Amino acid sequence: MKFVVDQQVEDIELPENLKLNTFLQEFHSDCPHPQCSFGFYGFAFGQSPFPVPRPIQDALIQNANKGAYAPVPGIPELRDAISKYNKYYFRMDVDPQRIYVGPGTKELIFNLLEILHGTVILPTPAWLGYLPQIRFLKKNYHMLPSRSNGKISPQDLRKLALRLHDRQKILILNNPHNPTGLVYDRLELEEIADVCREQEITVISDEIYAQTTYDFSKFVSMGKIYPEGTFVTNGLSKSHAAGGYRLGYVIFPQHALDVRRQFKKILATEYTAVSTPIQHAAIAGFEISSEMNEYFEITRSIHQLIGEYTYHALNEIEGVKTTKPEATFYLLADFNSFSTELQTSKISTSQKLSESLIVHPYHTAIVGGDSLVLERTDYSARIAFVDYDGAEVYRKYKNQKPKTHSEKLEFVRTNAPRVSSGIDMITTFFDNLKRNVKTDLQTHENSMKITI
Ligand SMILES: Cc1ncc(COP(=O)(O)O)c(C=O)c1O
Repeated sequence: MKFVVDQQVEDIELPENLKLNTFLQEFHSDCPHPQCSFGFYGFAFGQSPFPVPRPIQDALIQNANKGAYAPVPGIPELRDAISKYNKYYFRMDVDPQRIYVGPGTKELIFNLLEILHGTVILPTPAWLGYLPQIRFLKKNYHMLPSRSNGKISPQDLRKLALRLHDRQKILILNNPHNPTGLVYDRLELEEIADVCREQEITVISDEIYAQTTYDFSKFVSMGKIYPEGTFVTNGLSKSHAAGGYRLGYVIFPQHALDVRRQFKKILATEYTAVSTPIQHAAIAGFEISSEMNEYFEITRSIHQLIGEYTYHALNEIEGVKTTKPEATFYLLADFNSFSTELQTSKISTSQKLSESLIVHPYHTAIVGGDSLVLERTDYSARIAFVDYDGAEVYRKYKNQKPKTHSEKLEFVRTNAPRVSSGIDMITTFFDNLKRNVKTDLQTHENSMKITI
């Protein structure tokens, strides 16, 4: 029997993170060298390494008997807890009626793009999840490249919006930002919001990393600055290390009653509701408690500690520049100063750079620029610094926080050895690259001399 798949599906590509997963598995089983038994240094996966907080796990066990379907927008107790969570952590007053729960923010963003008419404005670099959705939905879209500070400028946004003649424009703002780890501050958000008001731009503000902001007082939600035009998405995946629970939420803009009604139809048509036991478990994650507070504080401090280590160690490689993360567990590394050597070595795209780093003897997985909606020849890469045993590191950090510079270095080297060895491997790769190109040039010059 031959099955015919709809052309629309044939045309989409597997999202880059899943492609990478498959590639790493294949690489692992194919590499002929015995040294490969340890796998690879994993800078590619965007997953929090910590255990799911105990209160969530306990609540899940206690609610395993809840077999009934939940209401489409989510159970009232959970929407209420999310409202209080937003008040406590993000100083936002949100009526629970404005909150809808869905199976992950990825799905919710997809649903928003499904129901909102209009052209999408996508700042680049970008999280690798947005573009396949935009393409699948056949939406018009325009890239908005970030400036050299890693952020979009309000002037560029205005210029682009003036060129678009659609009835509605949708800006996907990701703050804090994957892959740069940067955070837009209040002033920057206000300037963007001014342009959005003036140009009638709707914002989808993906704030899945909000809770990871190292200096937590710096985080401001776009939902607070531009409440009439912003859909805020957030969830359990990053802050609560529970991506596999598949639970996210969207906060609708103020007074967006009709959109809420339309959205409900889509949710009911596509997935009815999020699993009921998971919703009950999530309440424990959003409730304000000293246990959750401590969990957020410790996990964001560890992200900061390892982020600072990674930042300094990578910037020590001559020619490498990276963003300085202020949140998340990523930074964006710029390897473009090696472009001559890379091209001479036939590494002509960022995809090829990732492939060259993953093979023997480097065994280092990164996400290349083309997966981050950058030019194929932009040798930038996302480095996720989470390749360590999260439960163990959490326990050690809680028992004894490293305070001085040398204690912090020691902590990372001892407890996240794959992060430090992986960075050493990246250093070796670029050292070898320079050396090989120099040797090739030398050989070439010598042979020229002999010929002459
Ligand atoms: C920026 C960003 N948005 C959304 C998601 C998806 O989150 P969820 O697990 O809630 O679907 C991710 C996951 O990597 C992400 O990095």
